Amino acid sequence: MAGGKLQPCKCLRLRLQVPLQYQHCHLMMSDGVKELPWGVSWVVVTGASKGLGAAICEGVAGVVAPGSVIIGVARSQHGLDNTQAMVHKANPDVKFISIGMDLETASKEELQKTLDKLPQVGQSSRPTRCLLFHNAGSLGNLVYLRDLKDQDHINSYFRLNIGSVVLLNALFIDMMLKQPDVSIDVINISSLCAVQPFKSWGLYCAGKASRDMLFKVLAEEEPRIRVLNYAPGPLDNEMQETARSATGDKELRSAFASLKDEGKLIPCNVSVNKLLNILKLHQFKSGDHVDYYDA
Ligand SMILES: NC(=O)c1ccc[n+]([C@@H]2O[C@H](COP(=O)([O-])OP(=O)(O)OC[C@H]3O[C@@H](n4cnc5c(N)ncnc54)[C@H](OP(=O)(O)O)[C@@H]3O)[C@@H](O)[C@H]2O)c1
Repeated sequence: MAGGKLQPCKCLRLRLQVPLQYQHCHLMMSDGVKELPWGVSWVVVTGASKGLGAAICEGVAGVVAPGSVIIGVARSQHGLDNTQAMVHKANPDVKFISIGMDLETASKEELQKTLDKLPQVGQSSRPTRCLLFHNAGSLGNLVYLRDLKDQDHINSYFRLNIGSVVLLNALFIDMMLKQPDVSIDVINISSLCAVQPFKSWGLYCAGKASRDMLFKVLAEEEPRIRVLNYAPGPLDNEMQETARSATGDKELRSAFASLKDEGKLIPCNVSVNKLLNILKLHQFKSGDHVDYYDA
């Protein structure tokens, strides 16, 4: 990483008027930053059918070199077709492979077969950079913990938001670490909820906190891999609509409504541009949690 100095985090003061209970820090860019080139990239984006994932595909297509390959995974084939069109418009020299798949139930073999498409489709140009965006995610039931009694829902929540992430990640890094001269980035799409508790969002907060720690461990284990936990900020998309309508805690539900009413939600492409800039400049220590508002 680029050398840097520790700065206090500013991100937790804003957005939702809930008590600040956690402070964290991250490393900021210092002088003499060396940009990491994108070059020919092999990219996997989960949850690529809409929202932030679609915007990641579009944004990445706009910066990588011709011959790059992006695999987009999600359940909605219609959504993936839209993303494919966005990618093509951003850069017709990037190949987009859409994989319609339920990540909650996908087998190891299905995930491996998906990753094997990278060398098959991208065989004409060797990659210089490989990136995995763990973006797919769900909110789960937004009720108080005392009301979380649906065992199937609880198990299914962690299968999608943790289990599939661990497995896909292992298969991806095992494959990429065998490539000699390739730089590897693993990006976990995190949330403020990874570091701050929100009433009636127990599953989501626990899922995001677990994922942050998983990727901190990955950063310790694999010095060759750049690992980033990126919290994209409150986005102007479908997930926020659900947050406004389905959040069990009344105070939090109206805080979400205020974000919308006051025009404080962030367009997905704006957050993605910031993420790509962070990845290009490498303004973080591997494993850090970096928030949209801090970068
Ligand atoms: N929205 C926000 O304000 C906000 C804030 C902080 C962090 N985040 C995080 O940002 C990431 C993207 O969220 P978003 O806001 O873009 O939400 P979104 O619009 O609901 O998109 C979620 C994506 O995940 C995919 N997905 C969900 N369940 C899946 C499954 N079982 N198998 C495969 N794919 C599945 C969806 O595709 P299909 O439905 O087609 O399967 C969709 O592409 C999430 O990790 C979220 O937690 C969002």
